[in-house]
This record gives sequence, structure tokens and C-alpha cells, in this order.
Amino acid sequence: MDKTPDTNLYLVGFMGTGKSTVGRQMARRLGFRFFDSDREIEHAQGRPIADLFAAEGEAAFRGLEKKFIESGHSPVGCVVACGGGLVVPAGMRELLGRRGVVVCLHASAETLLRRTTRTGHRPLLQGSDRETRVRELLAAREKIYRAAGTLVLTDGQPVREVVAHVLRIYRRETRERSRR
Ligand code: S3P
Repeated sequence: MDKTPDTNLYLVGFMGTGKSTVGRQMARRLGFRFFDSDREIEHAQGRPIADLFAAEGEAAFRGLEKKFIESGHSPVGCVVACGGGLVVPAGMRELLGRRGVVVCLHASAETLLRRTTRTGHRPLLQGSDRETRVRELLAAREKIYRAAGTLVLTDGQPVREVVAHVLRIYRRETRERSRR
């Protein structure tokens, strides 16, 4: 019998890979609740991420991300679009993997540069040389992203194709998890 799985789905990947857009559509397809970790943290803290970074620093923000993953949402029936750096600190990849299926959306630096032009709300991409910043951050994180979950390349892919791909991975991996 095909039991409907309700395992959480976590979308990770660099800023501009489409986690929120794809996540919202995935939640609709699965009949799950959708969470965007950035929006949840902003809501809980009552201020935008840029202010949090400026006032408390990046390490404090990473602590809030961890708290949200550990206890800020239901353990089943959720799709979570994770902020781009959420999976980076030691132990976060394993934490996400214990809580559900992890899919990493990925794209080339060129695509990400195009997709992050309007990026005033992203503290890590401020400054005059966004291109160098994107390339450096991506290079520093790429290995972590690739190890975090099944990789989906989004370059040149319409959203509906990416959603269909993520749905196939989710179904396969929830089947595998239920056999463990
Ligand atoms: C960050 C990505 C952002 C947000 C914060 C830091 C990062 O999320 O969490 O600005 O470290 O990559 P998005 O990936 O949703 O833009």
C-alpha cells in the first residue's frame, strides 16, 4: 500500500537558487505547510534580517536559525525554505537530515548573480563588488551544499521543472526512509 508520507522537506542552497518559490509550490503539491526560515525569524524577532545582522552579528543569527530548525516548526508535514547559510555551520547538515528529506537547489555563479540583483535585504551581499562576494561565498560553501542533500541544478530550468524534479526526489527518498 502506498502510505502518504508526511516527512518534512528542507530546501537548502545559495541565495537566489529559488528555495522560497519552489518551496511554496512544493508545499501546495504535497498539501504541507510552508515555512521560510528567514521570514519566521524576522517575525519572531520583530525586525528584518539586515537589522539582526547589524545589531547582533551573524553568529547570533545562525543561533536563531538552529533554534528554528530544532523547535520552531512541526516535525511533520512541513516544507521549509532554509536561509542560504543555515546549513553551513557544523552539525546543521546532520540536524536537517535527521528531521527530513534535504534537497539542495544549485546554480552557477553567473545565474546567481543575475538572480540576486535586487538584494538590499541580504546583508552578506552588500557592498560595491557583489560579483566577487557571490563567487567567494559560493566557492567557500559549495562543498557543504553538495554534501547537504540531493542536488538539483536550476540553471535555465523553469520553476515547474524544478518542482517536478524535487517532487520525484522527495517521493523516492521518503520511500527509502520508510524502509530503513
Ligand atoms: C544568507 C541567506 C539569506 C538570509 C541571510 C543570510 C546566507 O537567505 O538567511 O541574509 O548566509 O546565505 P536567502 O538564501 O533566503 O536569501
